[in-house]
Amino acid sequence: MIRDTIDFAVGRLRRLHADDAEDMARACNDPSIARWTQVPQPYHLENAREFIATRGSEDHVWAIDVDGFAGAIGIRATMATMPGPITEVGYWVAPWARGRGVATQALIAVRDELARVGYQRIDWEALAGNEASIRVARNAGFTIEGFRRQGLVHRGRLVDCVVGGWTASMEVPELVAGQWQVQPVDAGDVPADLRPLASSALAVWVPRTAVGGTDTGYVLAVRSVAGVHVIAVGAPQEAVDAVSRFLTAQGLAVTEDPMPSGWV
Ligand SMILES: CC(C)(COP(=O)(O)OP(=O)(O)OC[C@H]1O[C@@H](n2cnc3c(N)ncnc32)[C@H](O)[C@@H]1OP(=O)(O)O)[C@@H](O)C(=O)NCCC(=O)NCCS
Repeated sequence: MIRDTIDFAVGRLRRLHADDAEDMARACNDPSIARWTQVPQPYHLENAREFIATRGSEDHVWAIDVDGFAGAIGIRATMATMPGPITEVGYWVAPWARGRGVATQALIAVRDELARVGYQRIDWEALAGNEASIRVARNAGFTIEGFRRQGLVHRGRLVDCVVGGWTASMEVPELVAGQWQVQPVDAGDVPADLRPLASSALAVWVPRTAVGGTDTGYVLAVRSVAGVHVIAVGAPQEAVDAVSRFLTAQGLAVTEDPMPSGWV
């Protein structure tokens, strides 16, 4: 379960309180929040009260608290029809709390919380030109993946946006599996027909014979609602067993169930 209160490097993420409304309204009248976010303009105390009462369209929102109210960060489901655990993050920091790493550290805290409960991808986007937000995302381990031209309606105008995201991946070691060494590889290095599956995998390994180093197939760890599936493509059973043991030792729920349909 996603926690409501999360202590992080420079403060605490907590629920929004009714008495945050004045600070929130003051912050949301800041010109750069108007410039770069979709919050209503002008922003009245009543807007803040309503947002605090309803969370707007967010699924989960935290107040960023650094010796008092300092901003907000929230997530919402973006691909409701897909069974995968994907969400989108958005944030802003009040003018009086900027320039001290607050947004970056809050984003890292939310990222880690979502990873902890099994999210596989966090979508991120910003209006083109929002360099501060791009820095925040990059510094929090997100990858800028490209532009969407005229990708957003912002205050009645079509504008370009920068898109990116964070994906769960694992630091995986080389594993010993009988006569095989199972070596991690990048998803981008697998054959093209496997890439869609590999690119959504937690990790991908290639087994090589311990002596001689011949490639033989791939072993992929793929997360779904059913748990973590170990998928062998032309790989020996010892390699699959070694990967399963490793994932289990990491505390992941390895399942023998087939992948739910439509997952990748
Ligand atoms: C973007 C925002 C959340 C950053 O909050 P913050 O707490 O000041 O962020 P941090 O201190 O963690 O990091 C800001 C980074 O941007 C950099 N930065 C700040 N202003 C910048 C600018 N005009 N151009 C380029 N980089 C800039 C800082 O140097 C820092 O990067 P660094 O740590 O690599 O030096 C805040 O400015 C804000 O709320 N802006 C308006 C709303 C908004 O844009 N929300 C995001 C919508 S996608």
